[in-house]
Amino acid sequence: MKNKIIVTGGCGYIGSHTVVELINNNYDVVILDDLSNSSVETLGRIEKITGVKPVFIDIDLKNDTETKKVFSKHKDAKAVINFAAHKAVGESVQKPLMYYKNNLYSLINMLSSMVENNINGVIFSSSATVYGTPETLPITEKSKTQRPFSPYGNTKKIAEEVIDDLIKSNDNFSAISLRYFNPIGAHESGLIGELPSGVPNNLMPYITQTAVGLREKLMVYGNDYPTKDGTPIRDYIHVVDLAKAHVLAVERIINKQQEQPYEIFNLGTGNGFSVLDVINSFEEVTNSKLNYEITDRRPGDVPELYAATDLVKEKLGWEPKKSLNEMIKSSWDWEQKLRNNKE
Ligand code: UFG
Repeated sequence: MKNKIIVTGGCGYIGSHTVVELINNNYDVVILDDLSNSSVETLGRIEKITGVKPVFIDIDLKNDTETKKVFSKHKDAKAVINFAAHKAVGESVQKPLMYYKNNLYSLINMLSSMVENNINGVIFSSSATVYGTPETLPITEKSKTQRPFSPYGNTKKIAEEVIDDLIKSNDNFSAISLRYFNPIGAHESGLIGELPSGVPNNLMPYITQTAVGLREKLMVYGNDYPTKDGTPIRDYIHVVDLAKAHVLAVERIINKQQEQPYEIFNLGTGNGFSVLDVINSFEEVTNSKLNYEITDRRPGDVPELYAATDLVKEKLGWEPKKSLNEMIKSSWDWEQKLRNNKE
């Protein structure tokens, strides 16, 4: 019999890629999503890629009665992967309460329903933002965490603490938090990828939308950082590599291979690229010029972030495979397909 996994936020960017990898690895998937920042069309696209349409439940996890009902119906699930969350850094500064309510209230409802139904393993979608401005590089899982700049980031930090406290109170419960660096790229089929609503906050979708003519020009936020070319350095990671790490984390939980009931892993490649590196690679991959301009720094941006990857390699056996050029090419293919489908 196949193992059942509940995936909250499974219609979203990282969620949908993870659902594909789970199905390809013979899991039964139940998606819970309120479609607040994703489309139901994604289900058909997942089916096109895998041949399987996952079970889908349209649910707002802030509703505790409904959440309890759904988890009780799927109490045979072996683990939950929690992607469901709002994620726009800037918006979270404007609407902090909306972020705390959505990201934390839904998490707490979900965890309560899990405990009630004896579903005892969760994989939590966390972020490198919990490291704040790192004192040393590369960032290991032992690096100090700091209060993140944005309410969004703070929901990730608080959520990790909520999970930690739950585990300390409950011997049966276990969790893995995966701290993502900068996920970009799209599935090779061109059928699923990032779908930012409105004006993108993140670099990669802003670049592809500029190149495709949706935006006039990319603003590069500052070139006076203490880095090789003055622009901030990030650790970009292909979303499909990232998705595969979730399957390994699920296996580790189900097979009870954890060394501690709460484990934390960084998900990055360990390579840092500057904003200008990304622009140059984009121009090389697409053989075109990108319209961009250097402007002021964006508040809250950290000069340099990249992951130490030893722990995740050793414990999860995960190694990212895709190069920056492959990440950029797949983002570009996805953007072009998206535009052509709309025209
Ligand atoms: N950038 C620009 N112009 C843009 C957008 C981004 O120059 O239009 C620059 C940023 O200043 C930064 C780099 O591109 O130097 C990357 O920016 P992103 O917004 O793509 O990513 P961040 O590193 O700021 O944020 C990401 C995730 C967050 C997470 C954070 C943790 O998107 O969810 O990493 O460090 F909180």
